[in-house]
Amino acid sequence: MSAELAQLVARLRARLNRADGRAGLEALNVQRLLDRVAHDPAPYAASAHPLVRHLPAALAGLERDAPELAALLGPLAEHLPWRYGYEATAAFPDLHLNMGWAEFVGPAAPWRSDEVCLGLTLIGPHSYYAPHRHPAVELYHVLTGVAEWSSHWRRPGAFILHDSNQIHAMRTGDEPLLALYTWSGDVVSPSVWSPQP
Ligand SMILES: [Fe+2]
Repeated sequence: MSAELAQLVARLRARLNRADGRAGLEALNVQRLLDRVAHDPAPYAASAHPLVRHLPAALAGLERDAPELAALLGPLAEHLPWRYGYEATAAFPDLHLNMGWAEFVGPAAPWRSDEVCLGLTLIGPHSYYAPHRHPAVELYHVLTGVAEWSSHWRRPGAFILHDSNQIHAMRTGDEPLLALYTWSGDVVSPSVWSPQP
């Protein structure tokens, strides 16, 4: 499975080359850091996260919006290490059922790195990902679905850059959102709600 996952990661990295402006500069920084990551991945355990119920709809959208990625992700999707990392909060009791990510490069990912992360975020339809922040610089690239970031609806192909500790929130539309994400800088400190709900 790791050869197929390596192919997917290579294709996702190629997507980063489409970024321009400040997002493009961050994409170059991320590529430089990714070049330093060891080639051999550690084994990973597939998760039984409830988020996987959104995968069929997300893959159908990906087939429409990025068929070359759908072909690679389809056979792998249910076996990826989907997880959710925030502390439980009474303000958003269902978020952990509808949002998560599968990390391929990072401190606890198959390709270990303490300076860069790369993975996929999956968020169910009509979900609100409340304001949060993290020291890492974050780059999102929408693969399928639409989502509202800072009052702007962003479509497949869009890049969204968040500076270190910039507070950000987002809301998904009628379809699940599948997005590539990267972190650089302090990728070990976690994301935290801000302000605390
Ligand atoms: Fe973020």
